[in-house]
Amino acid sequence: MNTSIDTERRLALEVYPKRDVCIVRGEGALLWDDQGNEYIDCTAGIGVANIGHAHPAVVAAVSRQAARLITCPGIFYNDVRAELMQKLIGVAPEGLERAFLCNSGTEAMEAAIKFARITTGKNGFVSAMRGFHGRSMGALSATFKYRQEFEPLIPGHRFVPFNNIDKLESAIDENTAAVIIELVQGEGGVRPADPRYATAVSELCKARGALLIVDEIQTGFGRTGRMFASEVYGVSPDIVAVSKAIAGGVPMGAALCSERIAPAVGKHGSTFGGNPLACAAAIATIEALLEQDLPGQAAKNGKHGSTFGGNPLACAAAIATIETLLE
Ligand SMILES: Cc1ncc(COP(=O)(O)O)c(C=O)c1O
Repeated sequence: MNTSIDTERRLALEVYPKRDVCIVRGEGALLWDDQGNEYIDCTAGIGVANIGHAHPAVVAAVSRQAARLITCPGIFYNDVRAELMQKLIGVAPEGLERAFLCNSGTEAMEAAIKFARITTGKNGFVSAMRGFHGRSMGALSATFKYRQEFEPLIPGHRFVPFNNIDKLESAIDENTAAVIIELVQGEGGVRPADPRYATAVSELCKARGALLIVDEIQTGFGRTGRMFASEVYGVSPDIVAVSKAIAGGVPMGAALCSERIAPAVGKHGSTFGGNPLACAAAIATIEALLEQDLPGQAAKNGKHGSTFGGNPLACAAAIATIETLLE
């Protein structure tokens, strides 16, 4: 019996179906389990390890910062937080000029939803079917899946089919605070927005006075060939929610906001949001992304995709062939 697996099984209030593997080390794209087996991390830590596991610059930054200052609440200014904000706004899609820092994707979406409410004074939201935005009650209200057992959720959220301009047009009304979308639906099946749809969403929001919230928690930090998918599609959101790869694996999230978004002093907050340890990791991560031009590499290597590559029929034939060879 593997003691770590056994202990987790016994003690965790489990929320994930698990593989029988206990991962203990990572480096670049590789992971190792406690038996010494080596794996290629095709999950990239579920979209977190864009610059790889244990990137030396992140390791050095976290070690340095841990010995200097780990925590610093938002009631004080902090040098490392200020440096990160400068870096983050420097790489953010044009028009996003302020950042609220938090600790996860869900929190970034929760903040985006609250900021949209206080900015517009409205409480209606339109999101896409199959969209995923997180699991807190607010973020879940904008999420299509995983909601049933938790209803009633927050009222005012409507869902329209993804990539359908007419349905979106008829769903936005005078009470719509914001439209919330992923430009490539992640959990929904890696479904990219049609470029005409993305443009229409942006134009409809402008015409109707609704804010546009783009969830770039999964698409952010180089995955789509630019730093953010909003740049690939040429849309100008009012709020972009980011997280996952932002800090090289250290928990962090952020809502990046345009000048249109109202200040929220005394209305929102986070004890750990913007802590210097995570900020130091994020600075090192953004620098590594830029130095290695990982967005550019994703754009170049992404072209090697193949329509029929990995199709189930060929895979079944390959399995049978390999089994025959081994027998
Ligand atoms: C698009 C998107 N939004 C939000 C989230 C929630 O992020 P977190 O798990 O960090 O709370 C995820 C997580 O997978 C996501 O993919």
